[in-house]
Amino acid sequence: MLTMDDVLLPPPGIGEVIDFRAMFGDNRPIEMEIGAGKGGFLLNRARALPDTGFLGIEWANKICRYAADRMVRWGVTNVRLMRADAGHLVAHSLPAECVTILHIYHPDPWPKKRHHKRRLIQPGFIAAAVNVLVPGGRIAIQTDHADYFEQIRQVVAGEPRLIEVPFDVPEAGVQEGRVSTNYEIKYLREGREIYQLAVMKQP
Ligand SMILES: C[S@@+](CC[C@H](N)C(=O)[O-])C[C@H]1O[C@@H](n2cnc3c(N)ncnc32)[C@H](O)[C@@H]1O
Repeated sequence: MLTMDDVLLPPPGIGEVIDFRAMFGDNRPIEMEIGAGKGGFLLNRARALPDTGFLGIEWANKICRYAADRMVRWGVTNVRLMRADAGHLVAHSLPAECVTILHIYHPDPWPKKRHHKRRLIQPGFIAAAVNVLVPGGRIAIQTDHADYFEQIRQVVAGEPRLIEVPFDVPEAGVQEGRVSTNYEIKYLREGREIYQLAVMKQP
């Protein structure tokens, strides 16, 4: 029977690199979600794509445990969660070219100008993220925050290895089996606009 220890894994130590083959027992494609929150997106996408391995990174301990507990209750065997800082983990603890899709939905917008430096999506993070994507791999980003979206567009445009692809076509592999995230549901109910961007690493 699936337990919390199967799903909620300790983050890698200093100098350690995640071995996805050991994690899932085979060479399946790997998708990651950064800031997985309560795990609604991961739960549903992982159930729709049982042959893909999913790693969710979430900084908030309680929320991360909540998401892991959901996977256990639903018996979802192809998701692993780690409580870690995604910026650090992507830069230091992943092998090159291992991720097919990196999902980033509603990253914390840090709306005050003096806090903008805390935003996840900065040039250094995007460069590290592209390093871990397989050729042809994609990053899907969604936010309800117009100002942060503008910054995201600029950062992404400054990374020469990325080309923009439509967010919602099946060939982009982003919409297939896509389900809403918890924040997306909440914001759509409030009538907020949602901004989406998908980019592909040049094959
Ligand atoms: C606004 S919520 C969105 C949650 C989910 N993606 C959704 O759309 O429902 C942002 C989440 O990202 C997490 N987070 C923020 N910075 C992070 C970081 N550096 N590493 C991992 N998780 C982070 C927060 O704890 C929070 O749960």
